[in-house]
Amino acid sequence: MTRLLLNPLGILRLKIWRFLGFIKASYSGVWIVEGAKFSPKVSWGKKVIIRNSEIASGVSIGDGTYISSANIASGRIGRYCSIATGVLIGPSEHDYRLPVTSPHLLDQGPGKEPPVIGDDVWIGANAVVFRGIAVGTGAVIATGAVVTRNVPPYVIVGGVPAKVIKDRFGSEEERAKAEAFLMEKLARS
Ligand SMILES: CC(C)(COP(=O)(O)OP(=O)(O)OC[C@H]1O[C@@H](n2cnc3c(N)ncnc32)[C@H](O)[C@@H]1OP(=O)(O)O)[C@@H](O)C(=O)NCCC(=O)NCCS
Repeated sequence: MTRLLLNPLGILRLKIWRFLGFIKASYSGVWIVEGAKFSPKVSWGKKVIIRNSEIASGVSIGDGTYISSANIASGRIGRYCSIATGVLIGPSEHDYRLPVTSPHLLDQGPGKEPPVIGDDVWIGANAVVFRGIAVGTGAVIATGAVVTRNVPPYVIVGGVPAKVIKDRFGSEEERAKAEAFLMEKLARS
């Protein structure tokens, strides 16, 4: 789907799909492919594509990000991220240090800050990213990961709790090229 956005005719094609009913709604430049629930207090970039997802109040989503069947409970999501099925980002938490964890019995307080996800981050199916976490630009989060610590740029993390599996690129030179490529694309988008 994100390939559509890179194609010069991509937006036209999305408009045709909208006309034909394959895309159910478009809203301020956001393309809703299938049912999505989102608060009016979400801030959207351009060319965002959302499929079957829940996006909570206060979330911001950068240009060109594609979200499929995910739940974004809080957070700032960067540009051109790919967020797969079953991903949960920034869930609220209960303060287990309090005498009780039920908010019906005691206010649980404001909790940690929403997570911040960089640009061009790929988050694999069913991964969870907690509040208070920063995920660096170009990082990849493997399927099923539970991210409990900050993720540096351009690494691949996986597991529970998520640890670095490997660098995304084999050398500093390759990484620098990728960073420059992304910067150029972002500047032109
Ligand atoms: C992260 C990912 C891209 C890595 O792919 P890869 O480079 O082919 O990885 P490899 O198979 O070479 O595995 C490298 C190491 O990471 C480990 N690993 C791979 N995926 C893992 C995961 N999800 N959780 C934990 N460890 C994982 C492997 O066991 C291997 O460990 P080892 O070196 O000790 O043997 C891939 O595993 C993944 O999660 N893809 C996401 C797919 C997805 O969710 N798609 C949704 C639609 S976009």
